[in-house]
Amino acid sequence: MADPAVLKTYFDTVDNLQDYYVERLKEAVAIKSYELADLGTHVMDGKTLKLPPAILGTYGNDQNKKTILVYGHYDVQPALIEDGWSSDPFELHETSKHQLIGRGASDDKGPVIGWLNAIEAHQKAGIEFPVNLKFCFEGMEECGSEGMDELVVREAKRYFTGVDAVCISDNYWLGVTKPCLTYGLRGISYFKITISGPGRDLHSGVFGGTVHEPMTDLFLLFSKLVSPSGDILIPGINDNVEPLTEEENKIYESIEFSMNEYHDAIGSKTTIYEDKIKTLQHRWRFPSLTIHGIEGAFSAPGTKTVLPAKITGKFSIRLVPNMEPDRINALVEKFLTEEFAKLGSKNTLNVGCVHGAKAWVSSPNHWNYVAAAKAIEKVFKVHPDYTREGGSIPITLTFQDALNKNVLLLPMGRGDDGAHSINEKLDRSNYIEGIKLFGAYLHEIAAIKAE
Ligand code: BES
Ligand code: ZN
Repeated sequence: MADPAVLKTYFDTVDNLQDYYVERLKEAVAIKSYELADLGTHVMDGKTLKLPPAILGTYGNDQNKKTILVYGHYDVQPALIEDGWSSDPFELHETSKHQLIGRGASDDKGPVIGWLNAIEAHQKAGIEFPVNLKFCFEGMEECGSEGMDELVVREAKRYFTGVDAVCISDNYWLGVTKPCLTYGLRGISYFKITISGPGRDLHSGVFGGTVHEPMTDLFLLFSKLVSPSGDILIPGINDNVEPLTEEENKIYESIEFSMNEYHDAIGSKTTIYEDKIKTLQHRWRFPSLTIHGIEGAFSAPGTKTVLPAKITGKFSIRLVPNMEPDRINALVEKFLTEEFAKLGSKNTLNVGCVHGAKAWVSSPNHWNYVAAAKAIEKVFKVHPDYTREGGSIPITLTFQDALNKNVLLLPMGRGDDGAHSINEKLDRSNYIEGIKLFGAYLHEIAAIKAE
């Protein structure tokens, strides 16, 4: 067990520094990190773009201590005040309920800055740092972690050598009150369908009824992908999904999860399932298909009578264990090509997977998880739930496979933080207690090693 006196000094120091930490997060949120900085290039839609750098760092190199690799991402989803934010998304502000509102506050700048604060609090408190750290902070996570797999594989036996376990803080508590440890993520295959016909956008009054319309073709294809109750209709997609056993079913019963809180997080009661077990299972362990949007379509207000000449529809499938992205991509491409042929349209179809990541499941009995559970008990006085997640962090499985080490997901924010949405927030208490949790977790790791 970690020394209670040391933890108390550390926790008190974090408490004393909390306003300073909020200021630091404010500075991080003010950086519009969805714009690209430079490192290498990536070809997207025929354009060569510069990739933002991944930041690698080392803190401590004591052979007698364990080495923990911490990963996070500093890129964020785009945000515009016109999307419906109550204030400038890149100016962090605190509400009367002590919510820190700003893009990236929870996903993932709060946690990234949180790790740095944890180190600094040790320095200020004069406490020896319990482990060696290696950092890997990337700037392309929200776009599929372009270039990262290659980096991790290349550096596995160089920069990342000596790493004993990996910790990623890039997800959220299941609800709003209870911390959790997360041992699974879904993967993803992201597709683009481009349909082109006329050489330019046309007047629908002059040409409507005489040409094959790309938008009509796209809607017909979209309608074949998924049912209103979420069943994926592409033949073969569900074939490899692990059947649900009685034993697994039981795991869900004891997890604390409120459908009311979930409805609050969604902002409506439009869930497909009424009960928590089905809802969690369809979030974590069954695949899902989401249609995201259409590029090139008329989407501005008003009633322009345009006939769009070329459009790109975007959708993705969240993958679960045993679903192989290559096989899924082949099934999707075959299905869409066949369905398009049935339309008898003279337009041209182009379909392809833009990026993909496999699902990840870890072993929650590993000392990495044991240490984190002890730390949660110290900081929050509760025993955590063990959760999986429906989202994807592509690099997670790469760390596990390339380094052959256990990976833990240790969330800082709450389930209603609104990551990717408007008014994303991080509660001040989650931020400050999260910094304590990170430090306590590292102390518990050191204590396990010493036992
Ligand atoms: N922080 C999320 C990942 C996440 C989401 C974990 C929900 C747990 C629950 C991350 O920043 C993210 O959004 N990732 C993308 C990855 C994709 C672009 C490959 C995602 O899941 O859409
Ligand atoms: Zn994230």
